[in-house]
Amino acid sequence: MRTQVAIIGAGPSGLLLGQLLHKAGIDAVVIERQSADYVLGRIRAGVLEQVCVDMLDEAGVGTRMHKEGLVHGGFEMLFQGRRHRIDMHALTGGKSVMVYGQTEVTHDLMDARSAAGLTTIYSASNVSVHDFDGPRPRVLYQTEGPDGPQQHAIDCDFIAGCDGFHGVCRASVPQDALTTYEKVYPFGWLGILADVPPVSHELIYANTERGFALCSMRSETRSRYYVQCELTDRVEQWSDDAFWDELRARLDPQAREQLVTGPSIEKSIAPLRSFVAEPMRFGRLFLAGDAAHIVPPTGAKGLNLAASDVKYLSSALIEHYREKSDAGIDHYSDRCLRRVWKAERFSWWFTSLMHRFPDTAGFGQKVQEAELDYLIHSESAARSLAENYVGLPLDFAEP
Ligand code: APR
Ligand code: PHB
Repeated sequence: MRTQVAIIGAGPSGLLLGQLLHKAGIDAVVIERQSADYVLGRIRAGVLEQVCVDMLDEAGVGTRMHKEGLVHGGFEMLFQGRRHRIDMHALTGGKSVMVYGQTEVTHDLMDARSAAGLTTIYSASNVSVHDFDGPRPRVLYQTEGPDGPQQHAIDCDFIAGCDGFHGVCRASVPQDALTTYEKVYPFGWLGILADVPPVSHELIYANTERGFALCSMRSETRSRYYVQCELTDRVEQWSDDAFWDELRARLDPQAREQLVTGPSIEKSIAPLRSFVAEPMRFGRLFLAGDAAHIVPPTGAKGLNLAASDVKYLSSALIEHYREKSDAGIDHYSDRCLRRVWKAERFSWWFTSLMHRFPDTAGFGQKVQEAELDYLIHSESAARSLAENYVGLPLDFAEP
């Protein structure tokens, strides 16, 4: 088979890239290791920046998001037993975020892809990427045929590595060509999804003596809640009742009273990590999204960063095919990394501010309290938080 761009991974990065390339008349094939149902079964964050919303519109998949998504102009910070509202809308000159689950984004992208009759190969095994340092890259993979495994090859102009943190693309780059930066946090997030109305109409980020908690939502009838937990905790140890008791203990009296509980639809534990691999391009192989960087979930920047990588990448490829210019390709890595590092900084900072760290009692704790107090009494401090939360602008200036 031959295509212009072989996209490895059918997560939000790969599917969004596929859609934007299709709109521009560029041919792409998506190769995914898992089944479509497996991909849709993963529950991830659900706060979209305006930049991401605009891209989904541009890709032609925004209709359901605008109908079912919830526009939020603020969120709340809870500490020392009291809630304080961050009025993002007022602080940023009218900006807001869209609360709409990543699962739904993926669903909409998959639907659009199949409606357009585009090729996605699911359940591909032993995917490998070759010759991306020369003019004719190649992707090999296997599928299960009636008589056993079948070997396939795709010849292409470019490979887009949208295959997440554990993918094959970053791992195929020679180790000495790559620099990685990593920070692992000493706690995890235990998350629950339940068909109960959200405790409040806006998100609540809580810093409490018992640890961090987050009240989020997917709709007016579906809630997503998290509590900071030990890295050694196993999800089986947490009954639904134990989760609700712990969450309730981390809320303010009013929220405690308003909390509606019910059986969980999903429950999982995620570790928290900051990670960046540099650069994000090696010849004709590009890394995008989680394949190149991970942020801790505080502030929900993961999907938004994936979307901005895809914006830079699709623009670069469109420029290559339409204008015969490789300027966008040459600037791809630097452009992405400038935005990536700002989101890394913000996610690390917000995580550090809102969690209880085992090793920072005393001085660390006092500094955290002072910073929270500063945030709600200084408009400049609150504006900086709001500006980052709604998302920094895309910057196409030459790095
Ligand atoms: N071959 C083919 N596909 C692969 C391979 C492989 N060797 N390895 C992984 N994949 C697939 C995964 O199964 C997954 O569906 O690549 C996809 C990567 O998707 P994500 O992990 O969702 O990454 P990305 O699309 O960059 O999305 C970033 O999603 O993961 C969240 O927190 C993250 O919100 C962020 C956003
Ligand atoms: C979520 O809804 O899953 C979510 C929301 C905000 C975050 C992280 C996760 O900061």
